[in-house]
Amino acid sequence: MKKAFITGIGGQDGSYLAEYLLGLGYEVHGIVRRNSTPEHQQSRLDGVRLNKNLYVHYGDLLEASGIEKLLRDVQPDEVYNIAAQSHVRISYEIPQFTTQTNALGIVNMLEAVRNNCPNARFYQASSSEMFGSSVDEDGYQRETTPMTPVSPYGCTKVFGYNLVRNYRNAYKLFASNGILFNHESPRRGSNFVTNKVVKAAVRIKLGLQDKLELGNLDAYRDWGHSKDYVKAMHLILQQDKPGDFVVATGITHSVGDMCDYVFTKLGLDYKDHVYQNPKFLRPEELKYLKGDSSKIRTLGWEPEYTFETLMDDMINHWMEVYTK
Ligand code: GDD
Repeated sequence: MKKAFITGIGGQDGSYLAEYLLGLGYEVHGIVRRNSTPEHQQSRLDGVRLNKNLYVHYGDLLEASGIEKLLRDVQPDEVYNIAAQSHVRISYEIPQFTTQTNALGIVNMLEAVRNNCPNARFYQASSSEMFGSSVDEDGYQRETTPMTPVSPYGCTKVFGYNLVRNYRNAYKLFASNGILFNHESPRRGSNFVTNKVVKAAVRIKLGLQDKLELGNLDAYRDWGHSKDYVKAMHLILQQDKPGDFVVATGITHSVGDMCDYVFTKLGLDYKDHVYQNPKFLRPEELKYLKGDSSKIRTLGWEPEYTFETLMDDMINHWMEVYTK
């Protein structure tokens, strides 16, 4: 039985990845940080909580000795580093915490692997936010596109990406980067734009609120479904050699287009309900993302969800929450 170790197992991607790996017959270990409301902390793992092959431990990327001990005891075959301070705008409010978690955290993880399970395969959750203001002439970002990040979060992710490549070359670790474009689902935190919009639109439809405050409606994002993207993470670690892989749909929509799709689907006009609040603008904005994922597609990865079926999945989720 293969063993996987997942940081951030309580999050959107960590929980889908755990379900996917358990379904493939893995023994899955993961860490969650202690907080004072344990009822909510592992709610995304409800579907697999009783699975006898799932082990959830307390841990923190900054608690290096704890990570070292867990990896020494578990001896995983695959390590997925998905934990992070992942909110881009909030990284401006807490840049030091973001840097510690996302940058020092990856140092701790790579050192722990190198010292305790050097044959484990290592996956790093790198991000399209690393491209920042760079777009190739044909309008796509790909593995070769220069990285010019435009947020503290993006800067920390470039650090992690580079360190993974450095440890791969210096210590011959099997360490790979998945450069994932935005990926969403009903499990997305509702302070990210897709779930914020869908949740509010459903509440407006049901008469539970009447307006929605957003930031920039003109940014473009390449949105896929987290369920598809965790399969790419696993695939990246099944290759003969480590590498760096863009994971994206190749289709981009503006935030305004996304609002239009969701509100129209509910029989509403978003222009009647959406207002701009400068509080949600970013000091520097990443304006445009559209990924070329040809490299991973040659390995057989293909998303099952489209932008429309992704949004429909989220709309159905919130409808159920508020009408059941
Ligand atoms: N969150 C949020 N809230 N975003 C808003 C809002 C709002 O009220 N109004 C407009 N936006 C715009 C943001 O300015 C941004 O251009 C876009 O919506 C998407 O924002 P998020 O959903 O917060 O995601 P993100 O693109 O900043 O970052 C996500 O994707 C990255 C991959 O590119 C996160 O998941 C990152 O962790 C991930 O690496």
